[in-house]
Amino acid sequence: MQMGWKVFIIFLIVSSCAKDNHSNNAVVVTRHHLATDVGANILREGGNAVDSAVAVAFALAVVNPSAGNLGGGGFMLYYDAKKNKTFALDYRERAPQAATEKMFLDKDGEVIKNLSLNSYLAAGVPGTVKGMFKIHDLFGSKSMNDLISPAIKIAKKGFELSAFQAENFNKYEKKFSNGSDSESIFINAERDFEEGDVFIQTDLGETLDLIKKQGQEVFYNGIIAEKIVADFSNNGGLITIEDLKDYRVFLKDPICGDYKEYEVCSMPSPSSGGVAIIQMLNIIENFDLSEYSHNSIEYIKLLAKVMSFAYADRSKYLGDQNFFNSPIEKLTSKNYANIISKKIKSGEKVSVEPGIYFYEGDQTTHFSVIDFDGNVVSNTYTLNTAYGSGIVAKGTGILMNNEMDDFSIKPGTPNFWGLVGSKANSIEPNKRPLSSMTPTIIMYDGAPIMTIGSPGGSKIITTVLQCILNVFIHDMNIKQAVCAPRIHHQWLPENTVYIEPNGISKDIIKNLQSRGHTIKTYGYMGVANGIIIEDDGLYGGTDCRDETSAIGY
Ligand code: DON
Repeated sequence: MQMGWKVFIIFLIVSSCAKDNHSNNAVVVTRHHLATDVGANILREGGNAVDSAVAVAFALAVVNPSAGNLGGGGFMLYYDAKKNKTFALDYRERAPQAATEKMFLDKDGEVIKNLSLNSYLAAGVPGTVKGMFKIHDLFGSKSMNDLISPAIKIAKKGFELSAFQAENFNKYEKKFSNGSDSESIFINAERDFEEGDVFIQTDLGETLDLIKKQGQEVFYNGIIAEKIVADFSNNGGLITIEDLKDYRVFLKDPICGDYKEYEVCSMPSPSSGGVAIIQMLNIIENFDLSEYSHNSIEYIKLLAKVMSFAYADRSKYLGDQNFFNSPIEKLTSKNYANIISKKIKSGEKVSVEPGIYFYEGDQTTHFSVIDFDGNVVSNTYTLNTAYGSGIVAKGTGILMNNEMDDFSIKPGTPNFWGLVGSKANSIEPNKRPLSSMTPTIIMYDGAPIMTIGSPGGSKIITTVLQCILNVFIHDMNIKQAVCAPRIHHQWLPENTVYIEPNGISKDIIKNLQSRGHTIKTYGYMGVANGIIIEDDGLYGGTDCRDETSAIGY
């Protein structure tokens, strides 16, 4: 998040009328201009949105190594125009079969610092390669060869580092000093990396070449699998050939809810994003937001309260539904939202506890594509924290995730993102850690009108929520919507409202403090991007917080 606050404010003024990219045909928005080029070229050459998305996912693994990946996982929402149906692809990492509930605790039951983040034990079984093959098998039209080749070319020939990327590699030098291949790839032995350095990834290029020639099998049950497993077993990791062979991708129905006249579809379990977005929109629907101007004190207070309820429930009730029966219907019901709304409206000091109001009882990356035929992809994938575990499996060029930290490694103990969890999200073999990734597609009258998503750890869900409200309540265009300053509340720490540097006026900060809120400036929240479909065409909007790019034509 390299943008200074002055630039940020100037941008907000300038962007008040700017729309990022307009097109009558197709739009691609991603975190990196080279990946956007790759996705746009595939569309120009006759590929569809899925072809473009798959090519982008492979390209980002090369040009955006902090988040783009082969060694991680994620979620894709895909709206198929012909079928008039939205699908949710779950290619989230899962715990190895040898994983145990207390694997990150010492003999006294205390969390062993950093074990779930920076070690061979931190990695879940990666899903990205299988995910991309699955969606391509079902909906792609071009050959996989065409979709992987651009990534191979960039990996082998190299690409110029931006100032941000060069600084970022230098910043994470300690993380890369772990004895794995990441030392020779991400640390420059002679001097710091600088803007314009050409970054070549020979091993990753070879790995991609093998995947292109031999298909996904080579990753899950071939030479690449063998290399990953050899490195893991030599270094105390758990991932075995069986783990890789047995890894499954799921094609699911998305979770959808109504907000006013719109249908909001997002990612179901093992993401918490869809449930939380629907729960929050349901509550907000009970308030007349035309009375609240954007980021006014009343608006922020309301959002903070609503967010707090959703995150409290997330902590107690949500986990991989194949292992834990979450009360999804209740959490996303209008009834439940009414009860919470009444509590908020009563004005009394509401203490938020998960579920007591029931009637009865710098890292991840998001990209969006819309093609000529109106097919829509909304995809978020990740290694978890920047560069995941920081470990490159020997001889593969593949950075491995540290997604095991997204489990509740000890009930009540916050993970990297400050999120606490319960039994619902405890570690079990083959279980998927609860995620906040929220790729979302919004429909009106049965057809998509917007796609949106973001990285940001725990702040993903609240970022996506505010982008949606910015468009549908505050009448912002997509560029303004993703760039506007955001706030965040995640239940714990209690009464703590996170704001962005200079995002909220001093008066409002004082006002919130006088009402008992602690205000924390965390840095920028999320790097959202999205596309809106209007009567006169498609508008792609990318976040001004980071290096993002949109191409429409
Ligand atoms: O799945 C999740 O919720 C996290 N692993 C996402 C991490 C993330 O967004 C990192 N980006 N800032």
